Amino acid sequence: MESWRDHQWVNKMTMRLDFSNMMSDFVGENRGITRGEIDELVPRALEIAGNIEAKREAGEWGFYQLPYDMETADKVLQMASLLKGKCDDFVILGIGGSALGGVALFHALCHPLHNLVSKSDRGGAPRIFFLDNVDPATFSSVLDLINLERTVFNIITKSGSTIETVSQFLIIHQMITEILGKDSVREHLVITTGVKSGQLRALAEEGGYPLLSIPENVAGRFSVLSPVGLLPAAMSGIDILELLAGARYMDERCRTNQLWQNPAYLSGALHYLADLRKGLNVAVMMPYSNALIQVAYWFRQLWAESLGKAETTSGELVNVGQTPVVALGVTDQHSQLQLYLEGPFNKLITFLLVENFGETVPIPIQPEQVEGLSYLAGHNLEELMKVEAQATQLALVKAGRSNMSLIIPEVNPFTIGQLLFLLEVQTIFTGGLYDINPMNQPGVEASKHYIYGIMARNGFENRAREAEEWQTRKGRYVI
Ligand code: PA5
Repeated sequence: MESWRDHQWVNKMTMRLDFSNMMSDFVGENRGITRGEIDELVPRALEIAGNIEAKREAGEWGFYQLPYDMETADKVLQMASLLKGKCDDFVILGIGGSALGGVALFHALCHPLHNLVSKSDRGGAPRIFFLDNVDPATFSSVLDLINLERTVFNIITKSGSTIETVSQFLIIHQMITEILGKDSVREHLVITTGVKSGQLRALAEEGGYPLLSIPENVAGRFSVLSPVGLLPAAMSGIDILELLAGARYMDERCRTNQLWQNPAYLSGALHYLADLRKGLNVAVMMPYSNALIQVAYWFRQLWAESLGKAETTSGELVNVGQTPVVALGVTDQHSQLQLYLEGPFNKLITFLLVENFGETVPIPIQPEQVEGLSYLAGHNLEELMKVEAQATQLALVKAGRSNMSLIIPEVNPFTIGQLLFLLEVQTIFTGGLYDINPMNQPGVEASKHYIYGIMARNGFENRAREAEEWQTRKGRYVI
């Protein structure tokens, strides 16, 4: 039986963390981390694990509960089966934590050319579009492409007030009203929003629009396993029950307070030591798999917005946080690798390595081999991908460059559930080591206030004045 319910299959599908290339016996005394340095963090890890348990018990960090919420999963599945019957296109409007998780799941687990293959080859799933930017050119081109009568829009915003998502909502609401009539609106919308969130929830309730709730205790960037990521995933034909099972499995592995046995804690501790002791303040995530590139972008937000903080929990100014960077293997060997091998010693590279791609694509043996290329005969693309990953790791180690690998037996909903959950716990734990609050994003507010000021929202007149003064002064330096 090939299922997460089968013990042997689960063993085969268990992700592993290989951190050899972070250690001093691999990258050298100066650059590498010693066992002693990790041991020193053991008491701190016990304390942080205790805090995490307490917050979990108190229901403060709701993302821990998401893999166990079968009621929501059932609701999402029922809604998806209803919607699939009435749409050919499913368009997701949302940004940041309300988009990146869904995008990551879609890219990892759907056909690489999902929107181009026939509906039957997609298993009856609609075409999927994520509009997470307000770029008017992209927005209009998607609206030009779809058949409105056979389209459902999923508006996702926890706060219900994010300027980008609300603007998109107003545009499509008006469009449906004008073209299909007011009474049709509810047939073409699904609103995913916070339980308490203001305007959008009120509008949805008033208009009788289908509604899914995001629990208040789940922060945006930790919401991928809530309806935020689950509905787009279910609409794309992804097995969300298997995804949640993978997350639960990783939760069991990451619940131990023993640093050396907990993959999420260990990876977090290595990032923390690498940053503060070795000066590696850039965290590169480099999947050797096209399917996983959007997981790296999802992680980029998780790491940046959760850990990039000015103050500790007690208000001390620290300005911490590694800069997350995304690179793709093998493509970026021909773009970034030169810098990683010879540039500043400031990067920790995490490879996402897939063991079984499900396809090999043999390189043919030609009757008359071109001299110099004959060594390729009889090999295949899967092998080439893996050899290139190995060679990159080895070259980095030899150059004293720290790197580690998350090894994924194959890309499927169960392993992706493990991967996302591991990275969430790693982020929370690392936040504990830095002693910052990983759940807020006070810095983002400043920019929002200037947007409101410039867009003339009441109450933000001071910001509007500051913006005007800044614009006037800037002229001197524009050539
Ligand atoms: O992680 C976060 O909290 C943010 O990235 C939010 O997800 C993002 O700002 C969108 O917010 P909302 O879901 O309220 O529209």
